[in-house]
Amino acid sequence: MALLPSNLQTIESHMLEVQSLHPTASGSFTGLLSDITFAAKIISREVNKAGLVEDILGATDEENVQGEVIQKLDDYANNIFLRCLGTRGQVCMMGSEELADPVITDTREGSGNYIVVFDPLDGSSNIDANVSVGTIFGIWRRKSRLDKVGMEDLLQPGMEQVAAGYVIYGSSTMFVYTAGHGVHGFTLDPSLGEFLLSHENIQTPFRGKIYSVNEAYEPRWTPEVREMVRQLKYGRHTKASSRKDKPTAGSGMSTRYIGSLVADFHRNLLYGGVYLYPPYEGRPQGKLRMMCEAAPLAMVAENAGGYASNGQESILTVKPTELHMRTPLYIGSRDDVLWIEKTLSKAEEAI
Ligand code: AHG
Ligand code: MN
Ligand code: MN
Repeated sequence: MALLPSNLQTIESHMLEVQSLHPTASGSFTGLLSDITFAAKIISREVNKAGLVEDILGATDEENVQGEVIQKLDDYANNIFLRCLGTRGQVCMMGSEELADPVITDTREGSGNYIVVFDPLDGSSNIDANVSVGTIFGIWRRKSRLDKVGMEDLLQPGMEQVAAGYVIYGSSTMFVYTAGHGVHGFTLDPSLGEFLLSHENIQTPFRGKIYSVNEAYEPRWTPEVREMVRQLKYGRHTKASSRKDKPTAGSGMSTRYIGSLVADFHRNLLYGGVYLYPPYEGRPQGKLRMMCEAAPLAMVAENAGGYASNGQESILTVKPTELHMRTPLYIGSRDDVLWIEKTLSKAEEAI
């Protein structure tokens, strides 16, 4: 008997299926997600052209609010997001890594029910070398009514997100998102211009073999972080004094660090592992941004059975104090991140 091939499903049809789980849904949320997939297709097209077309690669003359050089593709992706989102009046406010202030788009009663915060191009310093980059987004529901859209709508904790996800522009382009009903991945078929369901209900392993951290900052880490990473590398519960020159084979983890958070996170989500961006001397809160990077990926991680922490508590419980607030981030396989959180907290208690 011949086996039936697995079903082909577009992202739109999958989103409509999820929408049908909420009989009162108006469709505006599904419309918003669909707008994001459209922006992703345009950015993907442009990323794939980089290297062939002049004036796409390289830096602009500007810096963003965090003092980082804005690459031309950062700027391009940011503008695409601003132009594609909320075409059906679903969005009242947008926050971008590249813009100092949030953009208020719709304050009318009964419309503009969502706030979207995004990192339009993540890992953009890698773009000139044809290394994977990404886009990250989080969606919150508006709290206020009428024309009073304000900072209390924007500054909500990650646990209040109604959906979150990312796009990875890699050897293929993938769109991965969760609206609280599992984490699903869709691969772009460029000839069709459609995202097709390729990774249904992603579950990340509880423990992994990979840790991802920029170890060049090791001299500037706190002793607690240094010791925690040492244990990841040499095997947990080993004392520094009992270590010989080489770790026992198989006792520790392996390291992989691309320098594009989306790409490092995506690999660890599928294979199991942890991504770490600890604080270090000169950056007491690390580098990553709570609202446009940490909180959205934390929602994805938790819905896939993983966990995300700032070293003391779940990323999802922290209420941001400003759009560009930074946070230390430990994210990935549940047991591994819980171990990191426990190890860092114990070390802090001992001080
Ligand atoms: P962005 O390109 O959006 O500014 O983000 C870059 C981030 C993240 O993608 C990556 O993991 C991290 O910066 C790398 O930072 P370091 O070079 O300090 O390791
Ligand atoms: Mn980023
Ligand atoms: Mn960015």
